[in-house]
Amino acid sequence: MSNTVHVLNGPNLNLLGTREPGIYGAATLADVEALCRAEAERHGFDILFRQTNSEGTLVDLIQAARGVRGIVLNAAAYTHTSVALRDAVAAVGVPMIEVHLSNVFAREDFRHHSYLSPVARGVICGFGPQSYVLAIAALATMPASP
Ligand code: DQA
Repeated sequence: MSNTVHVLNGPNLNLLGTREPGIYGAATLADVEALCRAEAERHGFDILFRQTNSEGTLVDLIQAARGVRGIVLNAAAYTHTSVALRDAVAAVGVPMIEVHLSNVFAREDFRHHSYLSPVARGVICGFGPQSYVLAIAALATMPASP
């Protein structure tokens, strides 16, 4: 069991900072990464932080997380569409926390359903970049599997 947490980000999150700032705020993905690294350090975790616009690459990244301490996953729009991502999470058997910057339940109906929530250990949404920080802190409360 490694002490690494994989923080995986899906489509359009590379545009954070300029993308619909009224919804997603002014922080860039680099800012989110810096917050994640600081929180990980507090818990003695290493961080692998990745973003991709491609669903298949996200499947590959989830598969590559087999054996790590946990996955923090903001699958962005794929949250609401992707059986493949859900199956990948179920296959690797690593605790996954689903995160969203925005409160998806206060938004359009199509964002209320997540294919990922049933295979997540928990879901954190609506706290902007702090959603990621809270997810890393939550992983730290979970015992590492042998
Ligand atoms: C998001 C919410 C999703 O509905 C949306 O498609 C995103 C970002 C969030 O972090 O709030 O791209 O995952």
